[in-house]
Amino acid sequence: MRMEQQPLILTSLTRRFGETCAVDGVSLTIAPGQFVGVIGRSGAGKSTLLRLINRLIDPSEGRITHGEIEVTKLKGFALRQWRRDCAMIFQQFNLVERLDVLTNVLVGRLAGHGPLDSLLMRFTDAERTIAISALDRLDLASQALQRAGTLSGGQQQRVAIARALVQEPKIMLADEPIASLDPGNATRVMDALRSINRDDGLTVLVNLHTLDTARSYCDRIVAMRAGRVMFDGTPRQMTDDVVRDIYGAEGLAEFNESVTSTAAAPARPRVPA
Ligand SMILES: Nc1ncnc2c1ncn2[C@@H]1O[C@H](COP(=O)(O)OP(=O)(O)OP(=O)(O)O)[C@@H](O)[C@H]1O
Ligand SMILES: [Mg+2]
Repeated sequence: MRMEQQPLILTSLTRRFGETCAVDGVSLTIAPGQFVGVIGRSGAGKSTLLRLINRLIDPSEGRITHGEIEVTKLKGFALRQWRRDCAMIFQQFNLVERLDVLTNVLVGRLAGHGPLDSLLMRFTDAERTIAISALDRLDLASQALQRAGTLSGGQQQRVAIARALVQEPKIMLADEPIASLDPGNATRVMDALRSINRDDGLTVLVNLHTLDTARSYCDRIVAMRAGRVMFDGTPRQMTDDVVRDIYGAEGLAEFNESVTSTAAAPARPRVPA
């Protein structure tokens, strides 16, 4: 897999929804190959930030560049190419449950096919080989022909990662990928992201809701509140005191909740950031 060499630079990035400033003047330079955790309470702007990066939504102001590429100006084919370069994985996996696991992974290749191939789900043998090796890497090769809907949540999320991998992205964006998982599955999913980061050199940006996970996996933690970056540093610098300063005692308690209690309440209440 190719090594990515370009920094991702966000400059004064802002996105408003009516009166709400979801992302408010965010400037960040993300070095290639970095593993960045974005934390923040519900409504802080974490998902909006990732969606701006892969251009699912457009900024109100500011710009994004990736090396020579002016991401915020991309249109048409170049925009589709950029979306392929930034794979996105979500809390709810977004698999097609009635299709088998292998086909779900192959969906990651669809962007490179014409409409008829896509409609008929026609793939080459080489693509099948790539998909099977991605599944094998995520320890799911023996489930390749099983219906995706019959897998556990953790397995489904690993299928989603395999689907993202066959896209051959440069950047992996993950929006709370472990928020619906029990601790064992959460660890396997985070380990898979770490392996992609370390072994393939992919830049990983992951939104997380638990501090211990951010501290154990990320090179860098960005903490958001009300659309703004309140902290940007190493896990070691992100002490409980810093967290309390930014989010208060209540926020600290919320971040230190175990992954188990997050999994027990999948629909987190939306509280103001
Ligand atoms: N499409 C939209 N339309 C209107 N408001 C939006 C939209 N998307 C996000 N917002 C608002 O922007 C703010 C940031 O939302 P965002 O989803 O980015 O937060 P988040 O940090 O991902 O929260 P959570 O932890 O709950 O996922 C919130 O106030 C939200 O209500
Ligand atoms: Mg979110």
